[in-house]
Amino acid sequence: MPIVGINYEKCNGCGICLTACPLPGYYYNRNEETDQIIYDSHGKKCLKCGQCITQCPEDAIIYEKMGNTSTFEGIQNMDSYLPYNKSFNFLAACRSTRRYKKQQVPNEILEKVLKAMSFAPTGVNMRAETFTVISDQEVLRSLSSAIIEELKKNEITWRIFRRQFSIITTIYDIPVFYDAPHVIFISSPLNIVFGGFNLGNIITYGRLAAQSLGLGTCWNGWTQMANDSNPKIRGSVKLKGPLLIAFTIGYPDVAFHRIPPRIEKEVRFI
Ligand SMILES: Cc1cc2nc3c(=O)[nH]c(=O)nc-3n(C[C@H](O)[C@H](O)[C@H](O)COP(=O)(O)O)c2cc1C
Repeated sequence: MPIVGINYEKCNGCGICLTACPLPGYYYNRNEETDQIIYDSHGKKCLKCGQCITQCPEDAIIYEKMGNTSTFEGIQNMDSYLPYNKSFNFLAACRSTRRYKKQQVPNEILEKVLKAMSFAPTGVNMRAETFTVISDQEVLRSLSSAIIEELKKNEITWRIFRRQFSIITTIYDIPVFYDAPHVIFISSPLNIVFGGFNLGNIITYGRLAAQSLGLGTCWNGWTQMANDSNPKIRGSVKLKGPLLIAFTIGYPDVAFHRIPPRIEKEVRFI
């Protein structure tokens, strides 16, 4: 059981855990006779989202097998920790990188990216996705060829990408992955509506974390398209499915001097 109960020596009875829990009433309740907050999982596993742990002002929630909490100065004052103008610049400057240095990214740096990815929100906190880093250039080369072959099979798809590939196959050795030293694959067993959203969130966390480490990335939709039409693509490297998404990662061999123009969205306030 992840949440084991409440430490009543610490609990001040405020009931914040009741509203912190996304399933109030299922796990946390107030005993009407004693007015005490009670935790009763009725034998079911909670979502392990940890909301009750993060919000309890007295640190009174008892849990196990969930890892450790952490905190930092400014956690309750994010606008001073990372003011909007800085976070806006950081987000707006996030570019797709299509030229990489040959240099390998040390494992301890890649692990930082993977750690950030594991903090991305997932529907009902399922966290069912698995991460695979492929740095073996021969494996990437054969995946790249298989993906191109798969894209060619669909007439409409190939009409869209044919010109692009006629150029990039002359520039890059491993065109689908832009000769990146590493590609991070994220697979999910959840072929349901939020399965794909989870993958997108995870990629975005990974890409932003990579940017803060001086790395470049590019979302690789081709992998996803090819995998959707032919699951053998993922089978060749024993990636689990059925959903598969990838991004390239490495030290950028290109400099970005400015933020590109973006037409402001028309927004309706109702
Ligand atoms: C869902 C998704 C799939 C993408 N797939 C590819 C891809 O297969 N190949 C590629 O070179 N870029 C891919 N991109 C990158 C986009 O082309 C890029 O984000 C867009 O052109 C804007 O450029 P920027 O990322 O530098 O702002 C993808 C982006 C997203 C969000």
